[in-house]
Amino acid sequence: MVDNIIRLDRNESPYPPPRIVLDEIRKTVSKANRYPSRELYDRLLYYLSNYTEVSTSHIVVNGGSDHMLELVTWMFAGDKGVTLVYPCFNVFVELLKLHGIKYRLVSMDYFSDKPIDLGELITYSKNSDLVYIDNPNNPSGRIMVKPKEIEELVIETREKPIIVIDEAYYEFSKVTAASLIESYDNLIVLRTFSKAWALAGLRIGYALAGKRALKAFYGMQYRVSLPALAGAIKALENSSYMYRIVKRIIDERERLRRKIRVLGLKTPQSSANYLLIFTGIKNIPSKLKHHGIYVKDYSHLGEGAIRVTIGNRRENRIFLNTLKEILLHS
Ligand SMILES: Cc1ncc(COP(=O)(O)O)c(C=O)c1O
Repeated sequence: MVDNIIRLDRNESPYPPPRIVLDEIRKTVSKANRYPSRELYDRLLYYLSNYTEVSTSHIVVNGGSDHMLELVTWMFAGDKGVTLVYPCFNVFVELLKLHGIKYRLVSMDYFSDKPIDLGELITYSKNSDLVYIDNPNNPSGRIMVKPKEIEELVIETREKPIIVIDEAYYEFSKVTAASLIESYDNLIVLRTFSKAWALAGLRIGYALAGKRALKAFYGMQYRVSLPALAGAIKALENSSYMYRIVKRIIDERERLRRKIRVLGLKTPQSSANYLLIFTGIKNIPSKLKHHGIYVKDYSHLGEGAIRVTIGNRRENRIFLNTLKEILLHS
């Protein structure tokens, strides 16, 4: 039994939120008998509007962004079904399977300059109710579509399908479709406080949504807890901490990726806080788990494929050394 487990399987931040945010969250606990106030919600919208440069009338805050994805699916996925880039955020695929919602896949090439065929995506999307693209993609970390290509997709599909761009890792990629929101009614950008903002435990995310797309969230906006609202506001007020840890994680990611490639393993370039690594080793997740290291199994994409969250320097060193050891003995 290993004492210190290293969790590199959920794309969380390896760093806790800053003290000022934690203090704010603690303060709200004594007011837990009260519902969160409208003013607090509006304050968060105000900060988010400054941060995203999107007007408050196009922003909705809710529990985690996976819940928002569910709301969008219930509202818009009909007989024509959903177009997805594959592989993508597996929680969404499981949701579609569970509820028997039809979907079509546009597959990607992890190592190509253009990971997906935009023409194919447009053709499928024309005949869909909903299009889902995680950008950066989970599990590869690749940017799938540039803002210009998103605009082309919206125009070519004549704004018919709802197009969801999941930007859960935006703070790492800096690529966003936010500037298109006020121009196109059918576009949704999903964001979260779970990754770069280090607040996964609070369960809070937000959507930037065009007029028609906003329908998915009617009546749902106030379902966020008081600590989550207060924590998110404090985090936005003190954003320099987030920028600092994002830089640290990106530096670590690039360092780790170089070392993985020196080992002769393939790993696509990532714009997020994780790497997809093709180790070629059977049962690699359980071998790593034996050493107390949790990673996400993606062996259905290739033998020994795993997604590894970038941890702190110590965690990354232990992961790398353990991987080397396993490679040596396999
Ligand atoms: C692409 C993507 N979208 C959404 C989520 C979920 O985010 P949240 O914690 O806001 O539900 C994740 C979490 O791993 C993710 O990878």
